[in-house]
Amino acid sequence: MSSESAHTVTLPQPQSLERSNDPASATHTEGEATLDESSGTLAHVPLPAYLQQTYWWAYLHPASVRIFERQWLVNLILWGNFAKLRDAALKELEPFSHGDILQVACVYGDFTERLTQCLGPTGRLDVVDVAPVQLENLKAKLDRDASRISLHHQDSTNLRFADASYDCVVVFFLLHEQPENVRIRTIAQALRVVKPGGKVVFVDYHRPDWLNPFRYVMIPILASLEPFAMDLWRREITDWLPDEARNLAIDKQTFFGGLYQKVVITAE
Ligand SMILES: C[S@@+](CC[C@H](N)C(=O)[O-])C[C@H]1O[C@@H](n2cnc3c(N)ncnc32)[C@H](O)[C@@H]1O
Repeated sequence: MSSESAHTVTLPQPQSLERSNDPASATHTEGEATLDESSGTLAHVPLPAYLQQTYWWAYLHPASVRIFERQWLVNLILWGNFAKLRDAALKELEPFSHGDILQVACVYGDFTERLTQCLGPTGRLDVVDVAPVQLENLKAKLDRDASRISLHHQDSTNLRFADASYDCVVVFFLLHEQPENVRIRTIAQALRVVKPGGKVVFVDYHRPDWLNPFRYVMIPILASLEPFAMDLWRREITDWLPDEARNLAIDKQTFFGGLYQKVVITAE
């Protein structure tokens, strides 16, 4: 079980963060997604230690976006399963396409673009990420008809939204990147902000079946690159639910011989 503390440290800002301090970078013209930093200024949302120490190369370094923002590459990283997992998550959002949807953490590839295409005329999407460079990248990816989309610089463990304010919350491949104590807080926050009758959708890694050859391929990859990911092989996402959520309706589906899972929790 991972045990890294949730302490945050503040490192000198990479170039991309300095750019986002420029008020000009937050300006928005009609039709564009808004980058709302009023809900958490850069100074008040420090980068988590695990992100800086373990995932800086994937999400924080100025070159990371240039390297990883490729649909074929994110698909390769998921062994060709990106579209299947994306669509499995989006299917859960369909009944809420006219409501308020929250995506916790940006994703390389076309996940958010596809989500916005599912929005009905009254649907709204908020996207949260702790890394300004990722929010800037997402803003650039969204097309000009994105006026019902707001991007927020926030930490998943401390969402600055009211209780029960979203019809659906989606957390796509974030939990495996977080140390256990951080993951517990992310799950609790996702459940806190969803309305009664709404859904929280998690898509992430899972322990593959014994006969799945990827089980043996993934052990050294995850152990060396994603040190907290094996937690999701050892335990169920529901093990990290807050006590008050233990009796909620939970639906779990696995994919690709068990290597991936979707867990949908319906709030009461
Ligand atoms: C959703 S996960 C990984 C998704 C997937 N592997 C991909 O292709 O992007 C990566 C994102 O989570 C963000 N992130 C990590 N920890 C976070 C936190 N505590 N709060 C908000 N965002 C976080 C990172 O900045 C990054 O943009």
